[in-house]
Amino acid sequence: MTSPDTPVGPETPAGPGSTVSPETTATHSTADTDPGKVELHARNVEFDLSGAPLHWIPGHPVSSNMITVLNLLLPEGERWFVEAFNEALPMVKDDELAADMRGFVGQEAMHAEVHDRAVENWLRDRGIDPTGYLKQMEWIFRKVLAPADEGTPEDRQKNLVERLWLIAAIEHYTALLGDFALNCRWRENGADAAMVDMFTWHGAEEVEHRSVAHDAAAYFADSPIRRARAMSLAMPFLLILLVRGFRFINSQDPAVNTLSGLQKTRLYAVGYVRGVRAGVFPRISKLVLATATYFKPGFAPADIGDTAQAVAFLASSPGARRAA
Ligand SMILES: [Fe+2]
Ligand SMILES: [Fe+2]
Repeated sequence: MTSPDTPVGPETPAGPGSTVSPETTATHSTADTDPGKVELHARNVEFDLSGAPLHWIPGHPVSSNMITVLNLLLPEGERWFVEAFNEALPMVKDDELAADMRGFVGQEAMHAEVHDRAVENWLRDRGIDPTGYLKQMEWIFRKVLAPADEGTPEDRQKNLVERLWLIAAIEHYTALLGDFALNCRWRENGADAAMVDMFTWHGAEEVEHRSVAHDAAAYFADSPIRRARAMSLAMPFLLILLVRGFRFINSQDPAVNTLSGLQKTRLYAVGYVRGVRAGVFPRISKLVLATATYFKPGFAPADIGDTAQAVAFLASSPGARRAA
């Protein structure tokens, strides 16, 4: 019998010539496929989610709702990224890094806008009122993690560097999830095509710009202690917000909120295992393991994901082509 942690990676992984690591299931560019440096830019996109049901991966309500949380969680976080980068940009004297940072800002701003639209035009229509959770996200990103407006210029600079390292740590996970989106089995499991396109477009741009936040933070102050501190915050922070969002959606999902506590626990456990086995949800243990790779000497964000695969997807994404 297959255990939940048995690899269920894609049968056709990554782009031509890319490799899949058995440790993380992350894909990697190879010398043959790596397109080299790509110019980052935001893409206009349009996704018609009108035909997507709440459980947009058929037969997988748990995986569907868990991934749907990203629509609620990401926009405030991405606007917070943009604010920190815009604060940092005037101090960056490296033209190449500054261009990458501007490309990153454009892409993250577009991600936030698209997920906001998904919440307004799709999630609300499916009977989920997002107000309570969105207010919590606003409080966290606009108040708790707001830039320091007091103290000396040195204090404010230190605060900016801490935020940049926290963004770099969060981007480690968005790169891993982006790589998952590019290689998972949503389509093979009959998931809604527009929803798949939207999450894969976002994931592909996360892979495309996966090095930028790390490079920006290192430009200001590279230090293993800062990296470790940021990562030790990012992992539990993201996990708590994801679980809260999942419970929030489930509390309004009629397929879940009528169940008893025991029935819910069983649904979540079985749903998670089924999602992983079907290749529609990432193995949590692999994501946790991938956290360790962040601390390996010589680790670079480009070690996760395949730029060629991401760029190829972005060139063919129906949502990106429709709005081009
Ligand atoms: Fe993003
Ligand atoms: Fe990102």
